[in-house]
Amino acid sequence: MTGGRSPGDPVPGERDSNVREQIAHYERMAAGFDRSVWSLGRRDNRNHLVKISAIARAIAAQGSRRILEVGAGTGLHARWILENTPAEYVGVDVSEAMLAIATRRLAPHAGRFRLGIADAHRLPFPDGSFDAAFCSGTLHHLADPGRGLAELARVVRPGGRVAAMEPNWKFPSVLLVSAFTKAERNAFKINGASLARWASGAGLAGVRLERLLYTPPSPRALERIWDRADALAARVPGLRRLSIMLLVSGRRA
Ligand SMILES: C[S@@+](CC[C@H](N)C(=O)[O-])C[C@H]1O[C@@H](n2cnc3c(N)ncnc32)[C@H](O)[C@@H]1O
Repeated sequence: MTGGRSPGDPVPGERDSNVREQIAHYERMAAGFDRSVWSLGRRDNRNHLVKISAIARAIAAQGSRRILEVGAGTGLHARWILENTPAEYVGVDVSEAMLAIATRRLAPHAGRFRLGIADAHRLPFPDGSFDAAFCSGTLHHLADPGRGLAELARVVRPGGRVAAMEPNWKFPSVLLVSAFTKAERNAFKINGASLARWASGAGLAGVRLERLLYTPPSPRALERIWDRADALAARVPGLRRLSIMLLVSGRRA
């Protein structure tokens, strides 16, 4: 990998039909990805900030020298990491079109990041290469999400932190997308119990599950109200099951 995307790099799992399907899906989606209707406008919104802040806490990003993101997409999380921590960032994805957008977005941080093509099921890094690793909205695109989490754990040094943020199909809009989009159907494999099981199976210690966000991401004028509604909803036991996002994290033993 170099300071930008690596067109033509082989995808180790490219014969795998799931990976081919994901590549086709995201090559089609890339141009409109940051303006998704499901985000009610721009993806660079309040919910994005809540998600990346929670991930950064879970992986202790401030104290990490080298951070990996798997399924880096268009680089929104990467930009936050580069703007808010001193870490070096490495991002991989199977979609060249998504990484092309990330490369443009991260250009002001040249020298502190690398992007490349790689399959989450088979990361091209030796064991213990990073201080921390995370993914966001990626596991539910994999044929084998448990393997994806195990790969994140493998490439982190002992004591390093791993986090995976995933949509919760029990939230109504996530349920709709998961039911009607072929490339999203593995979301039904994801729940608090499966995430915690995969995390423990990956050798993570101190596994923690958080449930985040209950309100829409926009409009901006209502953000303070949504913040309060989210804080209240998080305290209501029944509602907790309906959070939009699930975040599992742990420490490599
Ligand atoms: C929902 S997007 C999330 C992007 C980014 N993490 C974010 O939250 O903005 C999922 C990303 O996972 C990537 N992806 C899908 N299957 C993958 C695989 N097997 N290995 C690596 N990345 C994959 C897609 O190309 C896409 O960019």
